Amino acid sequence: MSKPSVPASAPTREWWADAVVYQIYPRSFADGNGDGMGDLRGVLDRLPYLERLGVDAIWLSPFYKSPQADGGYDVADYRQVDPLFGALEDFDAMLQEAHRRGLKVIVDLVPNHTSDEHDWFRAALSAPPGSPERDRYIFRPGQDEVPGSGDGNRAPNNWKSIFGGAAWTRVTEADGSAGEWYLHLFDTKQPDLNWENQEVRDEMRSVLRFWLDRGVDGFRVDVAHGMVKEQGLPDWDGVAAMVEGTSEVPREPAPPGDAPGAHTDAEEPHRAVSPVYPPSPFFDQDGVHEIYRDWHRVLSEYGSDRMMVAEAWVEPAERLALYVRQDEMQQAFNFDFLMAGWDAERMAEAVDASLKAAEGVGAPCTWVLSNHDTVRHSTRFGLTDPTTFPKGIAGDDEQPDTALGLARARAATMVELALPGSAYLYQGEELGLPEHTTLPAGARQDPTFFRTQGAETGRDGCRVPLPWAADKPGYGFADSFQGEPAAPWLPQPAEFGPLAADQQDGEEGSTLELYRAALTFRSARHLGTGSLAWAEVNAPDSGLLAFHNRDVLVLANMGFASAPIPEGYSVALSSGPEPVAEWELMHEVPVDCAVYLVRN
Ligand code: NOJ
Repeated sequence: MSKPSVPASAPTREWWADAVVYQIYPRSFADGNGDGMGDLRGVLDRLPYLERLGVDAIWLSPFYKSPQADGGYDVADYRQVDPLFGALEDFDAMLQEAHRRGLKVIVDLVPNHTSDEHDWFRAALSAPPGSPERDRYIFRPGQDEVPGSGDGNRAPNNWKSIFGGAAWTRVTEADGSAGEWYLHLFDTKQPDLNWENQEVRDEMRSVLRFWLDRGVDGFRVDVAHGMVKEQGLPDWDGVAAMVEGTSEVPREPAPPGDAPGAHTDAEEPHRAVSPVYPPSPFFDQDGVHEIYRDWHRVLSEYGSDRMMVAEAWVEPAERLALYVRQDEMQQAFNFDFLMAGWDAERMAEAVDASLKAAEGVGAPCTWVLSNHDTVRHSTRFGLTDPTTFPKGIAGDDEQPDTALGLARARAATMVELALPGSAYLYQGEELGLPEHTTLPAGARQDPTFFRTQGAETGRDGCRVPLPWAADKPGYGFADSFQGEPAAPWLPQPAEFGPLAADQQDGEEGSTLELYRAALTFRSARHLGTGSLAWAEVNAPDSGLLAFHNRDVLVLANMGFASAPIPEGYSVALSSGPEPVAEWELMHEVPVDCAVYLVRN
């Protein structure tokens, strides 16, 4: 595997280098006005909870004006708050209060596509083919069903939408005739922008400045590997899966030579190994990096402490590392770690590969186990094969062993929080919430469910509104609202009751208290800025993951037999259910458990 030829430099020590970032999916976090939908008021009300949890920053998934065809990842106005979530003043108040409490705030930026209800797309529809309005998007004439017939009845190429179905939709022209087609890598209601168009670049730069001027600390960049498409939009026979960038086709080395669409930057490495074969013409094109160099310059105008984190489902780790070169973004999500599952060998490999790749470009690693697009790790780890990555779970699918899944999830989180770098937590994982695996089809909202005719269950199961108070309607989703709240926008499973935050607060052994303790430990021992050394007892092939970070030894038992605790160490924190008083009697780490050990 070739390494990118980029200069290594000293790891940076900005706030984000070792930050623990808590992801808020605004629809489902907390409902401040009792309408059944989470909102910015709800976030404001819960800032004390987040401060107490011990995280450093929050990342908010989109709360912008949007018809909500994809939970807000279909933006109709990048500078407005959707009335569902409040108003700009609510955002400002929330931001100010977060900063007062020492929490940084990262917002989501969705630059690959807009909503079809964005003014630009509306203008494009009422303008003729070839107009400047259409050029902001990717409009093309169709191919003829019968060559030469001029009917344009076939889509311009064979690309499939990541959400299922075709990636092209045909429009009706002003005169009522069947017209051009537009590209949408996601839903029909999410037309792709044309990043060859200067106006698009200028607009997104201006959107960055709009939020930077309001004081945000960073951006999570949606589909960061997707904006630039290969010249000529050639057919592609690969299969892009729901998780963007992953492919169901076999992996083979790419043909030698420049990657298609590569620009002439001398620094750009050749693509020696392609994870997706044939290489995708719409993901991870080398041209995207110029955009990030440009944005890096914009952020620099605001000082050195603003950051961007790439959502880029790119492999191998060396390709991902290109997004976090010194003059591009500051972080990229490490989905290799998320996809390793409950498996010591795969996890150790992901850790090694990620650390090596990040080190090569002088960037800190990130670690994540769950987010709003994936089945919660507490549920994945309770399946017969805890390394599988289902696209949602429905009532007639295999149901998880919830207790086993939770035990493993707690242990995996302890591993994550002890690794050097920055960690991302997804709302509700600190309560040990499982995926909702029996949501009725009628309640589903994720476009992937509809576009695949139910073949993919979709992501609703990890987006269920949080339980704050067991005895209140909607398990206290609208706890701070004085009045009778509407039912939460997705039904909550009965299992959420005992897991509500008020049930776990102050309860020894609860998942919430474990997260608080692990975060306190991580911060007190500076594990985020430490470094990893595999321990002598590390034995991933028999299920034991063991590493040192600073003066801490971490053991995680993913095997089938208890693992002895090395002489001279005692347990400082355990993911297991035994009370603190019993830790000093522990001589072994049980299966499905992780411990932080310190020298006696
Ligand atoms: C990635 C986001 O995380 C996901 O929720 C969204 O559906 C797609 N990008 C499209 O914006």
